[in-house]
Amino acid sequence: MKHFSKTDIKEMERVYRLNLINSCTGYKSANLIGSISTKNVCNVAVFSSITHLGSDPALLTFIVRPTTVPRDTYKNIIDTKEFTVNHINVNDIEDAHHTSARYPAMISEFDMTNLEKEFLEGYKAPFVKSSLIKLGCKFLNQYEIIENNTLLIVAEINDIFFSENIIQEDGWLNLDLAKSVTVNGLDGYSLPKLVERFKYAKRKNE
Ligand SMILES: Cc1cc2nc3c(=O)[nH]c(=O)nc-3n(C[C@H](O)[C@H](O)[C@H](O)COP(=O)(O)O)c2cc1C
Repeated sequence: MKHFSKTDIKEMERVYRLNLINSCTGYKSANLIGSISTKNVCNVAVFSSITHLGSDPALLTFIVRPTTVPRDTYKNIIDTKEFTVNHINVNDIEDAHHTSARYPAMISEFDMTNLEKEFLEGYKAPFVKSSLIKLGCKFLNQYEIIENNTLLIVAEINDIFFSENIIQEDGWLNLDLAKSVTVNGLDGYSLPKLVERFKYAKRKNE
């Protein structure tokens, strides 16, 4: 087996290390965060760090890169306290990826892609129309990660929208049916296939 040591990683060419470290922890969730500025410009951007934090209360978390450059999504969330999380549909991967391009705050990524915005349940922040699973969220808190100058955002999941055929009797959302993609590294999009679903695991011989 090939092996990279801490020294190898430290001395790697920057982009090579970025690709390696971004892919070595496995597949990540692929979402578009929708937000709106105080000047009413709708923003949409791809995020791969959105993770379930807890079910009761319903919480999620994600990482914001260092705010040494303008971060429109982050600013909008802090200003308005609300945002939307939209699963990336397999048909939208090219446009979804393009939302990571650095557009100025006054330009809406909705105008620069074929992604369509939609407004639901009184949210000012836009949802992505073609996404089959969407969450309405409220900002709760942020924590500074001093090791790399990033921010960990904690938010409440207050509303869940989905196509009716996606949910199973026990509340489980079948992501296969939503055609939700996953991210491999920073630029690879995959469509996973469910292999098996298991019962709650109990000790053997119980
Ligand atoms: C696949 C992928 C995943 C990304 N995940 C994150 C992330 O989790 N956190 C983050 O701050 N930026 C992430 N980005 C970068 C943002 O999409 C990018 O900075 C974008 O311009 C942010 O938009 P904004 O400036 O409107 O907030 C990711 C980019 C790509 C291509």
